[in-house]
Parts: sequence; structure tokens; C-alpha cells
Amino acid sequence: MTYTAHFKVWRGDADGGDLNDYQVEVNEGEVVLDIIHRLQATQASDLAVRWNCKAGKCGSCSAEINGRPSLLCMTRMSVFTADETVTVTPMRAFPVIRDLVTDVSFNYAKAREVPAFVPPAGLKPGEYRMQQQDVERSQEFRKCIECFLCQDTCHVVRDHEENKIAFSGPRFLMRIAELDMHPLDAAAEEGLDRKVSAQDDHGLGYCNITKCCTEVCPEHIKITDNALIPLKERAVDRKYDPLVWLGNKILRR
Ligand code: SF4
Ligand code: F3S
Ligand code: FES
Repeated sequence: MTYTAHFKVWRGDADGGDLNDYQVEVNEGEVVLDIIHRLQATQASDLAVRWNCKAGKCGSCSAEINGRPSLLCMTRMSVFTADETVTVTPMRAFPVIRDLVTDVSFNYAKAREVPAFVPPAGLKPGEYRMQQQDVERSQEFRKCIECFLCQDTCHVVRDHEENKIAFSGPRFLMRIAELDMHPLDAAAEEGLDRKVSAQDDHGLGYCNITKCCTEVCPEHIKITDNALIPLKERAVDRKYDPLVWLGNKILRR
């Protein structure tokens, strides 16, 4: 079925902008990115949109559709009725560069602040051995395509620019959780307690487990249940471990 849809697309740049109205053709099987491309081809050749794979794997086409953080290439037009207005806006948590393209460098800065995996001393690559359940736990987190939709939706930074200094967001707290649960990570031997760092350096305490991050993740990673809550539990366990408490008392004398 081919029909004409009503689209509202945000056009503008760092100095401001507005929603523009378009009537555009929609064909059977198309996704929102197809419609944005048709707009570029027929009515708005200077419309800026970032995309690469059109397969939900590069994480580039993140934006907001009817206010919900979504991948443009993975949102089917069939989820909307023919008479529904579809509104496409840039991700709200990040500064606009132009039209639907935002500056996501906040995320790269936070990524750089997470120390890498520390290989165990005395073992060469190829000699690492792990339980299958530990492999599977890491693999879930490594499905991340770095679309940053979870970062965009989290209320801690979505409307609170000031929290960005202290809070790294669900994607990077998940990365810390992955490393903290990794049985071969030797960061602790080098004096880095990832649980303490998650709290002190990355704002784990700001997360009040609203699970909005999990709801928008296109890879269906259970960010809150499998990464953030276990990381919080491990951090609390450490804080209230009587041996750790005693050790801290003695060391502080
Ligand atoms: Fe995107 Fe999910 Fe990765 Fe967040 S965890 S950046 S929502 S793929
Ligand atoms: Fe934000 Fe996800 Fe926590 S949306 S508050 S990081 S559960
Ligand atoms: Fe690659 Fe949408 S274009 S995820």
C-alpha cells in the first residue's frame, strides 16, 4: 500500500530551529529512514541526517520519533497509522549540530574515562580460561552498538546538563559492570577498584533504576537488571563488608 504521510521534521542548528511540515510518499515495508531519504531526494536536499548501515548495527541513525529515542532505520512505518503525524527530532540530551545530527562527543569523553581491561599477569592471550556463564554475561554487554539512545533517554542527563560532569550514563556504567564482573580483569591488583570508581568517578548513585535505558536499547540488552543493579549490589556489599570496614578503620589510623 502506498500513501502520503504527514511528517514533522526538526530543522535548525545550534542557534535554534523549528519543526517543518512535509507530505511524503510511503511504500509498503519502508522504515522511517527511507522516508527521511525520500525527503532529501525530493523536497529537502540539505536535510542533515547521520546513518551508515540501515541495518540496526552501526548505531548512527539515532534520533527521536514522536518523542521516543529510536533508530530511524529500525522503526517501521507500519507501526503508525496512515493518518498519524510522524514527528522526527534530534536526540534531546546532546547538542544539535544540524537538523537530526547531534554532537555525541560527551559519550566518547566518558568512554575514555573508563580504564581498559587489565590482562592477568603471567597469562598470555590464548591461555585465558573462563566459565561459559562468564563469557555469556560479557557477550550480552558487548552487543552494544553505541547508538547512545540509552544515554539520551536517561532522565539524569536528559534535562540536566549539569549532571553530565558527574554521571557517565548507563552505557558506560554497563561497561564498568562488565569489567568488574570479568573473572580475569586484574585492575584490582593495580589498585583500581572498579566498584568504587563507578560510584565516585562515574555517578552510579545517580541511577535510581528507572529502566528507561533498557526500554529503548535496540539490542535488547538488560542494562538495568544485568549490569546496573548487580554493580550497585557489589558496590554496597563492598561498603558494608565487615572486613573491608575494619581494614579501612585500621588503614586510616
Ligand atoms: Fe545503544 Fe543499547 Fe548500547 Fe545503550 S546499551 S548505547 S541503547 S546499544
Ligand atoms: Fe538512567 Fe537507566 Fe538508571 S535510565 S536512572 S541509567 S536505570
Ligand atoms: Fe546503522 Fe541505523 S543506519 S543503525
